[in-house]
Amino acid sequence: MHINRVERIWMTFGIVALVLFLGVLATAAISEGIIPPSHIQTIDPAKVAQTPPFDNPGVRKVGDKEYEVYVVARYPAFRPPLISVPAGANVTFFVTSPDVVHGFFITNTDVNMMVVPGWVSSATHVFRTPGEHLLLCNEYCGREHHYMYGTIEVQ
Ligand code: CUA
Repeated sequence: MHINRVERIWMTFGIVALVLFLGVLATAAISEGIIPPSHIQTIDPAKVAQTPPFDNPGVRKVGDKEYEVYVVARYPAFRPPLISVPAGANVTFFVTSPDVVHGFFITNTDVNMMVVPGWVSSATHVFRTPGEHLLLCNEYCGREHHYMYGTIEVQ
């Protein structure tokens, strides 16, 4: 097969650039221990129901205008299904799954996480105004995936 000289040069350039970029990415990821930002805490997925604070999921007030919300995403529902938090507070969500991969997306916010068994995903958000937000699972998790939703009530 004949390949034009200019084409060969261009292909070589493309392959060298690809290898170089992948090398830079791999070196940075390994040397700096880069992992997805939401995946810092681990948990045994078989023991979620017995592991505090996920044995009693819900909202905790941890300081002045500081709240923590522990949520278990288990097919096909979120526990608890209704989360009430005050407007203007710093709310940190901690979410884990005992079964399969789920999504944790709160409408009209930038909270959008993947929930992977074995890990605790977390995100902090300040709800500025009172109202209701839909909490959705946006990772296909099974036949009843579309029933997997909850409500965030901002008071
Ligand atoms: Cu959980 Cu889709």
